[in-house]
Amino acid sequence: MEIINGKEVAARIKGQVKADAEYLSYHVGITPCLAVILVGDDPASAVYVKNKTKDCAEVGFISRECILPESTTQEELMKLVKELNEDETVHGILCQLPLPKHLDEREVINAIDPDKDVDAFHPVNVGRIMIGEYDFLPCTPAGVMELIHSTGVCVEGKNCVVVGRSNIVGKPMSMLLLHENGTVTTCHSKTKDLKAETLRADILVAAVGKAKMIKADMVKPGAVVIDVGMNRDENGKLCGDVDFEEVKEKASYITPVPGGVGPMTRAMLMKNTFTAYKKAIGIKG
Ligand code: GUN
Repeated sequence: MEIINGKEVAARIKGQVKADAEYLSYHVGITPCLAVILVGDDPASAVYVKNKTKDCAEVGFISRECILPESTTQEELMKLVKELNEDETVHGILCQLPLPKHLDEREVINAIDPDKDVDAFHPVNVGRIMIGEYDFLPCTPAGVMELIHSTGVCVEGKNCVVVGRSNIVGKPMSMLLLHENGTVTTCHSKTKDLKAETLRADILVAAVGKAKMIKADMVKPGAVVIDVGMNRDENGKLCGDVDFEEVKEKASYITPVPGGVGPMTRAMLMKNTFTAYKKAIGIKG
């Protein structure tokens, strides 16, 4: 069994983005810029936004933190999105979710210019992913694909089982595995016999949000196991959706929590921001 080191893979990707961005910024005279919108004072969201700012600094991007109070109205938020859409010095826009209850997330996401939508949450980008003609991939599923690639295991023809069907992770995850010719099953809360499904998985991706729910007896020997979960166990310790201590004895490759998918999500946001920047300055690829 090998533990997949997400921090190491993420550092490699960020290093590549940094080198490419430095080169282009120097020659074009424009530096990539990511605008992050945070509304209200959810402490977890504040940490995520700080981390994004840190990542931007690390790869040489400009970051613009747009911090708005809890009392912000939908109109004010929509006005900010419009300004950022029109601002040519801003290449990527991300609105940290969840928004306070009185705000309409969907309306905000739909208002972001699809070419600046580095989360890939806009329906246009979701549609592009469906047909395999995309500029951006949502950061977490894209990061998971990079981790799978890092193992050298080829997805083509493999039984891939994704547990979870959220718009942000599960659904696009299944689509990306399908694009690489995996035979994909998406499981969810109404799946009749989850264990029977996961036991057939050569590649198992858990994205449910339930601490340690994937046990060793649910995993096929030699499977690649990717854990997207970020939960607290009974002792308040950070853990994933996979019971790591049990499952590591059966898997060929497994991601830890923390240090697996998390750092990759952050790295892929930098990659998407760089892609948006390249599009804006008229460079393909
Ligand atoms: N909140 C938790 N994860 C995410 C994410 O990937 N993007 C945004 N915008 N908000 C989030």
